Amino acid sequence: MTSALEKPADLSLLPIPETVVNLYTPKRPFRATVVSKYRILDRSSPNYCWHVVFSLKDSEMVGKYRIGQSIGVMPNGRFNDAAFNYVHNALTNQIRLYSIASASWGDDWKGETVSLCVKREVREDEKTGELVLGAASNFICDAKPGDEMFITGPVGKSFLMPDDPLNHDYVFVATGTGIAPFRGMLIELFNRGFEREAWLIFGVPYSTDIMYDKDFRYFADHYPNFHYITAISREQHNAMGRKLYVQVRLEQNQDSLAPLLEKPDVRFYMCGRKGMEYGIYPWLYRIGSNLVNLPEGLTLEDIQRLPQDAPEWSRIERARDRERLLKETY
Ligand code: A2P
Repeated sequence: MTSALEKPADLSLLPIPETVVNLYTPKRPFRATVVSKYRILDRSSPNYCWHVVFSLKDSEMVGKYRIGQSIGVMPNGRFNDAAFNYVHNALTNQIRLYSIASASWGDDWKGETVSLCVKREVREDEKTGELVLGAASNFICDAKPGDEMFITGPVGKSFLMPDDPLNHDYVFVATGTGIAPFRGMLIELFNRGFEREAWLIFGVPYSTDIMYDKDFRYFADHYPNFHYITAISREQHNAMGRKLYVQVRLEQNQDSLAPLLEKPDVRFYMCGRKGMEYGIYPWLYRIGSNLVNLPEGLTLEDIQRLPQDAPEWSRIERARDRERLLKETY
């Protein structure tokens, strides 16, 4: 696993490519082969999450995607399983987007693979109580090395790393599978010789659910400029006895983070559960950060009391510094 983390001595790093999008589309997808996959959650977790590596060989995507972009997967039927496809209505051309979890050179260092972090969607229908299996996530997690599937992309221009990644400090905040792009970004940074500060604050429900924990521990052990902090919402508590979310960790590390966030070249990324921004923006306001500006007529007290569906959030969103505060929540 660590072989994807540190560059083998005999290879040179590929340059960061220009940003291109939609090399492959639903009408003209690429038939990618699954190269390998491995579990990234503790075996005792009730959830199932896989790191899946696809071959891009012979495609126009080789060496062309950037970390921060996404790849579409078309779950057009579970392999040779007509009964499954009938029950789950999976024969669809709709694509499902997944953030790229590898650095821009892939896990093979040649740009010929792309990796995704995929959690199986397994739930019950609220009304009927029937089992619902997410078509795309289970399709990908069931795939075996050698299986083929149609992929599209890359897509996305608004969550990229800067073109000069070594000239910035970073605060990465993730919840759940929102961790995917940060794995690639950290591999990219440390292999390029990153010497500034990088923080990763990662929120998951249970300690069995920390994706890529070994990878992040590896970086934390080898690079003193990397600070890795988890927020285990259902095992740890804040001062009021409530769930411990990522924003509490930000607050607890405020003495280090507030001065870092004042630097003009800092980049603050958040990725994961929709709603995480509503806890993070008030903290940014409280520390006086100019990553987000208070829209006219609103006070910090107003914002701390806003419900998640309040129309004011779209105004707050527009007042964010889009170059320095990058967000992908879903
Ligand atoms: P919880 O589910 O305990 O409320 P998941 O893998 O299920 O997507 O988990 C993502 C993590 O983000 C969980 O720990 C979840 O906590 C947490 N979370 C949910 N809502 C928010 C929020 N508004 N702000 C920060 N973290 C959140």
